[in-house]
Amino acid sequence: MASRGTRPTSQERRSSGADRADQRGADGRPALSTGPELGPMTLMGQSCPLHNRRGSARVVPRDENMELSFSMEMDTRIYGSNPGQHQDSSQATPIQRALRSLSIPLERLHIMKGHMIEDMCKGLCRQTHAQAKVRMLPTYIASIPNGTEKGNFLVVELCQNQVRTLLVTLYGDGNMSPNIVYKIFDMPEGMRQGEGEALFDFIAQCLSKFLAETTTSEIKETTTLPLGFVFPFSCQQTRLDKAELLSWSKGFSCSGVVGKDVAQLLQSAINKQELRHVEVVAVMNDTVGTMMTCSMEGRPCEVGIVADKGSNCCFMAESYLVETADETSGRMCVNTEWGCFGDDGILNDVFTPYDECVDKESSNPGVKRFEKMVGTLYVGEIVRHALIALTAEKALFNGTDVAVLKQKGVFTMQHVLDIINNEDGITEVKKILESLRLQPRLAAILSYMCQTRDLETLTVNVGVEGELYTGYPRFEEILLSVSRLLAPECMPTLLPSRDGSGRGAAMVTAVALRLAAQSRAVDEVLAPLRLSRADLEKVQALMRQEMDRGLCKETNPTASVRMLPTYVTHTPDGTERGDFLALDLGGTNFRVLVVRVTEEGITMASEIYVIPATIMQGTGEALFDHILDCIIDFQMKQNLVTQMLPLGFTFSFPCQQVGLDKALLLTWTKGFSASGCVGKDVVQLLRDAAKRKQHLGMQVVALVNDTVGTMMACGYDDPKCEIGLIVGTGTNACYMEEMKNVGTVEGDQGRMCINMEWGAFGDNGCLDHLFTQFDKVVDETTINPGKQRFEKLISGMYLGEIVRQILMAMVEKQLLFKGRPCPKLQTRNIFQTKFLSTIELNGLALRQIRAILNELELDASFEDSVLMREVCQAVSLRAAQLCAAGLAAVVEKMRESRGLDQLSVTVGVDGTLYKLHPCFSDNLQKTLKDLAPKCNVTFLLSEDGSGKGAALVAAVADRAANAAK
Ligand code: G6P
Ligand code: BGC
Repeated sequence: MASRGTRPTSQERRSSGADRADQRGADGRPALSTGPELGPMTLMGQSCPLHNRRGSARVVPRDENMELSFSMEMDTRIYGSNPGQHQDSSQATPIQRALRSLSIPLERLHIMKGHMIEDMCKGLCRQTHAQAKVRMLPTYIASIPNGTEKGNFLVVELCQNQVRTLLVTLYGDGNMSPNIVYKIFDMPEGMRQGEGEALFDFIAQCLSKFLAETTTSEIKETTTLPLGFVFPFSCQQTRLDKAELLSWSKGFSCSGVVGKDVAQLLQSAINKQELRHVEVVAVMNDTVGTMMTCSMEGRPCEVGIVADKGSNCCFMAESYLVETADETSGRMCVNTEWGCFGDDGILNDVFTPYDECVDKESSNPGVKRFEKMVGTLYVGEIVRHALIALTAEKALFNGTDVAVLKQKGVFTMQHVLDIINNEDGITEVKKILESLRLQPRLAAILSYMCQTRDLETLTVNVGVEGELYTGYPRFEEILLSVSRLLAPECMPTLLPSRDGSGRGAAMVTAVALRLAAQSRAVDEVLAPLRLSRADLEKVQALMRQEMDRGLCKETNPTASVRMLPTYVTHTPDGTERGDFLALDLGGTNFRVLVVRVTEEGITMASEIYVIPATIMQGTGEALFDHILDCIIDFQMKQNLVTQMLPLGFTFSFPCQQVGLDKALLLTWTKGFSASGCVGKDVVQLLRDAAKRKQHLGMQVVALVNDTVGTMMACGYDDPKCEIGLIVGTGTNACYMEEMKNVGTVEGDQGRMCINMEWGAFGDNGCLDHLFTQFDKVVDETTINPGKQRFEKLISGMYLGEIVRQILMAMVEKQLLFKGRPCPKLQTRNIFQTKFLSTIELNGLALRQIRAILNELELDASFEDSVLMREVCQAVSLRAAQLCAAGLAAVVEKMRESRGLDQLSVTVGVDGTLYKLHPCFSDNLQKTLKDLAPKCNVTFLLSEDGSGKGAALVAAVADRAANAAK
């Protein structure tokens, strides 16, 4: 039996620990335990290194009377790994044996933690959720209070024997000092087992009485009074205000409620009371209320534990992991319903005969097994059964028949607390309670949060409330020490929940309203970017119209889609051969390549060169001189100086081609503006530069647009590839058109590839109805305002700027950064395609988004990050849909001209946006299918860029030239 004398004082513990140099590692620091076999708890009765918060260790002394004394360190001894290492059980007293059966070895705790994490994953996964015992229920609470919440909120909490009603006034002051008025009503006897309707009517009556007594005329006059309902049972939520009861627990079993939406039941009961201005806005579990109560601005709380009649926990999980809710952004609070842990039998070996008795006698035998091990509704009962057993063994009360112990419920949690909080109380009972299986589950949750947030260490606030926590001073100490042992990477701080879960419920309600208002405002901003099917059909029809106008000789000069002939009349047939040089100018990279086309296939070598902005926007001479310098450098590096190779030039700008090797630049795009080039033959400009450099080692035989190069490159592998598409810095498409439709070139036979130059679609005003204020500003700030209007809605060079304009508008409307000005957003081009692609990555944790934003020196909260992602999504979705509408016009035209019911065609595609963006291609393909159902379109990604295609065109040209000679 423990006596106070055997317990070392903390002073003694510290000094004797420091003396034990033999427990230290070679570096003189305390030895760190690494695994179960070396685990601190495995060596009963020896000095035990214990993990402290940071996973390092300290040494505690051997305690002679360890089985019986309790200190903070010694709490852990009760979890000795191997019962065999306890005193020989034959020598143990019945009390010791009873205690031991109630304790759980550390190793077992580690295993339990592992099971708990497995169960959590099972509960979160869509496929396994239905069978999971730990249900991991989504709560549809995705934000914690940010302190700006304001207004009056009504709360009703259903408690074990009471209904609590509260009126909470939040002042938007960081939620530091809300005004709370409350009233508690006792629940009539038997109501918990009666009819559901009676229960809800009673709750509504309480509300009615409360409002009659407390509300001011100001509140009475408000049109609606939002209400948060704390309902501490397992519910399947599909919205914040829709929660179907899955099962009752804690002695409740009201009829007609399981399977019903409790928000609706409460609202109906409220309506019966004629409290029509009271609107149920949110239903939540008590753990959620607790977590929210403890959350204040600057001190967000992300875990809520209730250690009361029942036991449960909620926490903020990464939304994408909560597969049962269709929410991928941000975090969502998950109600773990951890009371059910072990309902699949996983805890059977730690379930004692006392637990079995308690379970059998409960209102819900066989379920919520874990809750029954720790909930205060059951603790008294466990103790009672333990005492019965000990009495029977004559280990207590001298074997006298203590009949009173046979009565269920005679021993309440309060009795137990009275005993254990009284230093002179019955020490055995104290130990029984202290050894109560204080769970590894908080540790499991913390570890899970730490892992899924991709953190090395997790610092987190844990809100706690309940009888066990408030009534039992050592609860915190024990809970923390267990979680420190099992999850040393986590640093939880327990926060007591003042005002229970009611204040938090008001905050949830307030946050819900704030978010609803915000989402309406956000929708308003984004609405002009959201396109209906009819909008897209119209774009498709307009594109078709402009294509026809561009192909027709008479209307071509005024058509916004120029439909430029390329003089490429065939896709590759596999007979192309030879070694070629290729240039690839106009995308993100400028490349020089050497391409070898043989019977076995194509091999290439290439080098990327930089074109500085000063050269892009300087003189044409300087630009082409620079290009020549790069070619010469490349030829030297590749030992090609002595060879005169035919050269194919991918030149990704609009050109009026007169032949394969004669192409007049119509206009620059994508930020190029080198002077003296527009209207000139680009091939000639290159030849002139070669002359200036006296370079004779190349012979330009063909110039192609990048779309054409891409189509040809893909066509080499797939003969069905008759379309080329680029969605990168710029956007454009080409396709094989029937010569008879090409009014701008003589001849009716066969086909010719048409470079559509669709980037300029809308330059004649035909798309004006689509341009939002953001698009207009972006256009105005480019070097070619009014030009390439379609491209400016779609391509990588502009999307980031559209996003930036929208974000600036949102800051102005106080929807972002809490309305604080953000000077960094004024920086042009801070969002590049790369940014858009990353921010929309499915499953990208918000923490990573925040890190990206921080890199851009944008100090975004989690909510800001979610909003930014939404903006990026709206902009990139619109781009993909518009691109699809354009493509739908192309494939439909091809199908019609070929007189087919169904067209099967491949699109060769390239460009950084298409390649890097996680959703662009899916959105494009989905929309295309919808808009052109009679076309079966395959997308083939161009792997090696369009230089390869230019070389193939050069091969054909070269063969033709040689044949002519
Ligand atoms: C291909 C071509 C480039 C072309 C680019 C478009 O790789 O080789 O000439 O312009 O795709 O993509 P980007 O994203 O670089 O503009
Ligand atoms: C150019 C096109 C090019 C496209 C994709 C546009 O800006 O005008 O010629 O194909 O960008 O690179």
